[in-house]
Amino acid sequence: MGDVVKRVLSGIQPSGQLHLGNYAGAIRQFVEMQRDHEMYIFVASYHALTSSRDAEALRANIRQVVIDYLAFGLDPAHCSLYAQHDVPEVTELAWLLGCVCPKHMMDKATSYKDKIARGLSASIGLYTYPVLQAADILSVDPDVVPVGKDQVQHCEITRDLAQAFNRHYGEVFKVPDYRLRDDADVVPGIDGEKMSKSYGNDIDPFMEEKPLRKRVMKITTDSTPVDQPKDPQSCTVFRIFRSIAGRDDPRTAELEARYRAPGLGYGEAKQSLFELILDHFAAARQRRSALTDDPGYVEQVLKDGAAAARARAREVVDRARAAVGL
Ligand code: ADP
Ligand code: TRP
Repeated sequence: MGDVVKRVLSGIQPSGQLHLGNYAGAIRQFVEMQRDHEMYIFVASYHALTSSRDAEALRANIRQVVIDYLAFGLDPAHCSLYAQHDVPEVTELAWLLGCVCPKHMMDKATSYKDKIARGLSASIGLYTYPVLQAADILSVDPDVVPVGKDQVQHCEITRDLAQAFNRHYGEVFKVPDYRLRDDADVVPGIDGEKMSKSYGNDIDPFMEEKPLRKRVMKITTDSTPVDQPKDPQSCTVFRIFRSIAGRDDPRTAELEARYRAPGLGYGEAKQSLFELILDHFAAARQRRSALTDDPGYVEQVLKDGAAAARARAREVVDRARAAVGL
């Protein structure tokens, strides 16, 4: 008997241009997993409404995230790619889950407190964000949800809600595992801090060549002179290089050796990183411009993805409705 194919779900908020950190920390793994998993990857458009008030920007961001997912290599033949708002079953499920969710479960959610501290308005949507996330997840009966560290609490709430519901109503939901991505390779931004849209230190691999080179040249380095050896591990340029090329790639070993010997200038290391980005993302950059010129294709991908997700979600919601007495 062959291995049972595992079903995977994950999502990302359309809150701006994706960067090298999102690619290395999340999207690259989705692309690798699609070979031997049944994949559901979505754009969390309803979640974005908890922080967005700009309709035009949201519309553009949703579209851009989908184009970028496709450009990075998600293949609609192996992965259902959809927008959350095209699967209305998710909001129906969120209500059913909300009714078994004790209020204190939301009170202790840290992302709400963090977001309020950062100035977001304390809306009911923001408060119940984890219930909607549980509905996203449970709606397709996934086996595993790959996430970054910041999403662990949301995954635990999802498991708690599924178990609470099952306790009241019988075995309706599969309780999914989450898989924490290896955080050893948090990609630093141009200032050396964690690369993040919200810190303004990110590198967008789809930039035009000239501004991209300028951005890479801006990476902060120390002032070790050219004729002295340098420590690759503490250098932002090297760490970004390694996270894109990979730890085991010969180019990483080669650059590391050049750091350890005298004669490498940081300008040269940055030039190597710039060339690596162009090389690594050459196909993605080409695909992205073709996709930008083909809105009909992108729409079709979303339509097909939503149809696949809805078929699953309808079954799950029907099960839940019947269990509660509707
Ligand atoms: P941002 O911090 O830019 O707003 P998000 O929080 O939207 O990024 O990130 C989406 C996913 O991308 C996260 O779940 C996380 O795992 C991954 N990610 C983001 N930034 C990095 C980074 N610097 N290094 C590795 N992975 C990252
Ligand atoms: N909250 C996640 C984030 O900010 C996005 C998200 C929404 C998600 N629903 C999800 C991630 C379901 C994984 C599974 O990144």
